[in-house]
Amino acid sequence: MTGAAENQTFRTAIVPAAGLGTRFLPTTKAVPKELLPVVDTPGIEIVASEAAQAGANRLVIVTSPGKESVVNYFQDAPELEEALERKGKSKLLDKVRRAPALLDVEVAIQKEALGLGHAVAQAEPNLTDEDEAVAVLLPDDLVLPAGVLERMSAVRARHGGSVLCAFDIPKAEISPYGVFDVSETDDPDVKQVHGMVEKPAPEDAPSTFAAAGRYLLDRAIFDALGRITPGSGGELQLTDAVALLIKEGHPVHIVVHRGGRHDLGNPGGFLRAAVDFALDDPEYGPSLRTWLADRIGN
Ligand code: G1P
Repeated sequence: MTGAAENQTFRTAIVPAAGLGTRFLPTTKAVPKELLPVVDTPGIEIVASEAAQAGANRLVIVTSPGKESVVNYFQDAPELEEALERKGKSKLLDKVRRAPALLDVEVAIQKEALGLGHAVAQAEPNLTDEDEAVAVLLPDDLVLPAGVLERMSAVRARHGGSVLCAFDIPKAEISPYGVFDVSETDDPDVKQVHGMVEKPAPEDAPSTFAAAGRYLLDRAIFDALGRITPGSGGELQLTDAVALLIKEGHPVHIVVHRGGRHDLGNPGGFLRAAVDFALDDPEYGPSLRTWLADRIGN
């Protein structure tokens, strides 16, 4: 990834993973949704690997009491590794060692579910003076192909301030998202943001550009997060802190991502992602394809 080294603007990535996962009940009584496997790999490893590829060397996972297994997943497993080594299972050993080797993982705890903005704010004590900007990756969103964070870094290097990833979404489907009020720049995929609103009704949406789970935020976001009041759904919204920064003159831009996306936050979207990844898997793809064609044909 050449872009990562040239325009590196962050070293710390924050992944909010404190939610109850109600849409995956009853499974989430015992297993956090971030650990559900897309083929054989938990969604949170895919997201952590995207952050590492974009140049992050530290991941702060914001989680809630009882969901420590999300963080434990990134720790070494010496007994398991020894057993696999003894049996000569080197491919499995590589898989087991992959997540702990990606980056340094730290934990921050969100005690109460007060919203995405509140969750991100819990990571502030983990930051150092060097963290002038941080990346935030929502683990429900898979943005494909990976690489949008590198483009966002290049935009911060050029324009300063904060940069968010956006998808162009049909107006009728816009209300579950944070939506941007934008104007053009000299790059058709980079737009300047003049306002942002969380979950508007389609008729109130300022554009069809919606926030899609990847944020490169100037450190000033933490001060803004301390000053917002509950917004959409009675929660402290990250969107409202971004809107406050814009109002106070901070530059905010979006990179419009024209690729694919999966929503791992509900069983329907999760299954689609699993099938998509499995079809590309050399081991499971071919027989799944045949079975699916047959199943749909009948
Ligand atoms: C969150 C954000 C929203 C964003 C969305 C992307 O909403 O608040 O601005 O567009 O993620 O997936 P949530 O999906 O948590 O309701």
